[in-house]
Amino acid sequence: MFRIGKEEIDAVTRVIESKQLFKINKGLRETEHAEEEMREIFGAEHALFMTSGHAALVSALIAMGVGPGDEVIVPAYTYIATAMAVVAAGAMPVIVEADETLTISPEAIEKSITKHTKAIMPVHIQGFPCDMDAITAIAKKHGLFVLEDACQADGGTYKGKRLGTIGTAGALSFNYFKVISAGEGGALLTNDKSIADKALIYHDSSAVAFFGEQLKDVNVEPFCGNEYRVGEISSAILRVQLGRMDGILDDLKRVKKTVVDAISDVATLVPTNDPDGGCATTLALRFDTEAEARAFATAEGVNGTVPFDTGKHVYTNWTPIMNKTGALNPLMDPFKMEANKDIVPDYRADMCPKTLDYLSRTVYMMMNPDWTKEEIDAKIAVIRKALAK
Ligand SMILES: Cc1ncc(COP(=O)(O)O)c(C=O)c1O
Repeated sequence: MFRIGKEEIDAVTRVIESKQLFKINKGLRETEHAEEEMREIFGAEHALFMTSGHAALVSALIAMGVGPGDEVIVPAYTYIATAMAVVAAGAMPVIVEADETLTISPEAIEKSITKHTKAIMPVHIQGFPCDMDAITAIAKKHGLFVLEDACQADGGTYKGKRLGTIGTAGALSFNYFKVISAGEGGALLTNDKSIADKALIYHDSSAVAFFGEQLKDVNVEPFCGNEYRVGEISSAILRVQLGRMDGILDDLKRVKKTVVDAISDVATLVPTNDPDGGCATTLALRFDTEAEARAFATAEGVNGTVPFDTGKHVYTNWTPIMNKTGALNPLMDPFKMEANKDIVPDYRADMCPKTLDYLSRTVYMMMNPDWTKEEIDAKIAVIRKALAK
């Protein structure tokens, strides 16, 4: 989250004064409006605001019919929540290499497709867009769903389209660490009414039938799902944040472009699938060796991060996935289910060496949309000095 203030306080105050904190009400109807505004801003026919990005991923997978017996392809470099969402749906995450852009490799996807593959989950990690042209072409050729994990990419674009709206469905996150935040929260975006209807039921399965006319246009038999419903306070905050989103992204892009233009003669940038898209939250530099990357990251004033060190973003640190502990109760564990017995993957720490190599030779520097000219100039000076060594 980059910006928050009086407008959010006022919006929360209005909800509390209305005394209507449940999402269906005849008063401010913040959740209904937040979903309308997301449809408009993101250009998606359906938007569901729910408790987290993980909830949106699980709801989308369930709505796609993903379950035991299915494989879902995920990148080796993403937050563990991506792979956990697949397990929560009862399916098997198939972990594949990221390429030099640090996003999922289309070549690796194609090589991993089997008769059990049901979906691909491209992850726009750190706001870097995946190669969606190649991924959607592969999905079309093999008849697969594409669920974009845009949880680190709120509002970013690929070739002019918002991330999360290019595949069959997409998920956003509004937790504290994202471009915009409602404290916690997530959204499912899709143009597919059948997926939207099923996700509507799944994400709010006990209340959806009883409040308002939520099931009016839904032709899906009710089924047992989950409780990922949000309240009006979160929705009120989200609406203000949605209004701030493009201003934040424009400023991030301006700041990053200024830095990039000033260092491009001395730095090697990590290649990207759309230089004008993405979120510009992160400047990523590539080095020839891990030692060079680490020396730069720790040079005075750089404050860099080598993404190899980012814990649960790297598959080798996904302990419950790598150990195949899919649930507390063994009978509910997808890794032990009869339907998955022939497709339990053979996870090994060395199975995605290219990803580990790219991650260990990359340094991230976080951009800030509110940097002054002096702060930007200081950052540029620090980078140039560290690279001159
Ligand atoms: C790539 C990715 N996917 C999914 C999630 C899950 O989002 P949430 O924390 O809102 O459940 C995150 C959260 O950080 C994420 O970074």
